[in-house]
Amino acid sequence: MERILVIGGARALGAAVARRAAKDGYEVVIGARDLAAAEALATEIGATAVRIDLQDETTMAAAAARLVDGIDHIVTTGSAPHDVRAVELDRDKLVAAFTAKVIGPMLVAKHFAPALRPSGSIVLFSGVVGWRPGPGSLVKGVTNGAVEYLARHLAADLAPVRVNAVSPGVVDSGAWDRLGDDKAGLLSKSAAGTLVGRYGESGDVVEAVMWLLRAGFISGETVHLEGGARHMTS
Ligand SMILES: NC(=O)c1ccc[n+]([C@@H]2O[C@H](COP(=O)([O-])OP(=O)(O)OC[C@H]3O[C@@H](n4cnc5c(N)ncnc54)[C@H](OP(=O)(O)O)[C@@H]3O)[C@@H](O)[C@H]2O)c1
Repeated sequence: MERILVIGGARALGAAVARRAAKDGYEVVIGARDLAAAEALATEIGATAVRIDLQDETTMAAAAARLVDGIDHIVTTGSAPHDVRAVELDRDKLVAAFTAKVIGPMLVAKHFAPALRPSGSIVLFSGVVGWRPGPGSLVKGVTNGAVEYLARHLAADLAPVRVNAVSPGVVDSGAWDRLGDDKAGLLSKSAAGTLVGRYGESGDVVEAVMWLLRAGFISGETVHLEGGARHMTS
């Protein structure tokens, strides 16, 4: 049975990946900074839980020590958005944003590489904003763009372990529920900004992640899951 660690696995897209992986017969380890939430989902789906905070390297070292007997795949969904204009940048939030998407996953690689089996893989999370610049999306755009480069350089570093990224467009993952009544407007606007005329569902992302785990001839790539949004001219 292959073992998969899903970081950010207690919520939204991470939880959707964890649920599907458990259903598909993987041994699932849910990594989250909220251990109680990770344990609750783990109990529900027959997984185990471990505390991992992408902003705290000691938690990665401790988790890696627990899984030292071997791991096949790592999926990391962490993000710490700082959606402001350049003149409003807060240095600590800027660093946190890069840590969640770029520095944290690099340190995950540092600590888990010895346990990763050669046939295994890592899936990182980027996002369409990396390719669609706009006011207020500076940090999200650059961190997402950096993830594409992280996938290709980490793939070379960890080979033969494969490293890829997925880059979703707007997905109704649960994360947007915080917008309340404004969520519907965001979803319909994003649907209009795709070639396929709809927003993303969690299943779109889960399918691609599960495929990448098995796609043994793909490494260093970013798979765009955004209905062609990058190709829209307006
Ligand atoms: N949903 C979309 O429309 C969309 C679009 C483009 C890209 N994406 C990307 O897809 C990924 C997943 O997004 P999502 O929709 O599932 O919602 P999200 O709210 O962005 O999910 C972020 C996940 O990362 C975890 N996380 C944040 N900081 C962490 C830390 N320091 N240590 C460990 N885990 C941490 C969160 O856990 P907590 O519960 O602890 O906060 C949560 O599980 C993100 O990278 C996001 O940028 C999503």
